[in-house]
Amino acid sequence: MFEVRDRVAFVTGAASGLGLAYAEVMAENGARVVLSDIDGAGAERESARLRAAGHSVEALTLDVADLPAIRTAIDATVAKHGRLDACFANAGISAGPGPFTETGQIANVSLEAFERVVHINLTSVFATMQAAAVHMQRQRAGRIIVTASISGLRSESVSGYGYAATKAAIINLVRHAATELAQYNVLINAIAPGPFRTNIADGILRRRPEVVRDFEEAVPLHRIAEPDEIKGLALYLASDASSYVTGTVIPIDGGATAW
Ligand SMILES: NC(=O)c1ccc[n+]([C@@H]2O[C@H](COP(=O)([O-])OP(=O)(O)OC[C@H]3O[C@@H](n4cnc5c(N)ncnc54)[C@H](O)[C@@H]3O)[C@@H](O)[C@H]2O)c1
Repeated sequence: MFEVRDRVAFVTGAASGLGLAYAEVMAENGARVVLSDIDGAGAERESARLRAAGHSVEALTLDVADLPAIRTAIDATVAKHGRLDACFANAGISAGPGPFTETGQIANVSLEAFERVVHINLTSVFATMQAAAVHMQRQRAGRIIVTASISGLRSESVSGYGYAATKAAIINLVRHAATELAQYNVLINAIAPGPFRTNIADGILRRRPEVVRDFEEAVPLHRIAEPDEIKGLALYLASDASSYVTGTVIPIDGGATAW
């Protein structure tokens, strides 16, 4: 049911954190995986490590801000491997602090910075979905998995405005595309993580104990998740185990949204 052997997967933002965990779980289960990232050296480093462990992976430098480059990279993957089975539209950036910090307050949010977040977290995610959908539609099969956030499900005081807006927007993009592409057996879902210990926001969840404590208090499980803990859900959504699941958003948040 969870078999993904020889399937072809493409991941954006795969050099670190959740994107790396997606790439790892697919590779560990026998998929052929393209790890793309703006940090090409990081993607190459992680790919080399996975290849040394016997997995079938390759690295690619891709800045998702460059919209035509996304299409080129995904087309090249299909040209090389003959198909695309799973696409993780994962790359995303923080919008800085939320409204309980002075710089995150509505009056102080720079519109330029807001638009930058919209470009990376929304437009680039759409461009990634679009580039993958073209091939999957033709194949009459495929999975698109988008990394949203619980910040897209409700107001999270720690999230900046641009982040809150874009994470909500991509959840509805997922619903919209899922309804169009269901007829082609292309299944599209969003993952909405709570706090995971990654490098986002300059690794704030790695280096600021007081921020870690706040997050731990906001989660019924009272801890921050490790990136590996996203692997089960990622494999589920990329495999036949989720064959009747589309257009949905699945929180993985230690119970945070239950409060
Ligand atoms: N960590 C969390 O607590 C959390 C919670 C909810 C959602 N998310 C989402 O998870 C996704 C992955 O973030 P993460 O937490 O793993 O952070 P991370 O910083 O560890 O990883 C993000 C990766 O994306 C890459 N990246 C950044 N800008 C890029 C660009 N323009 N083009 C291509 N790659 C780019 C970075 O180089 C990095 O390797 C993001 O969409 C983020 O919003 C994270």
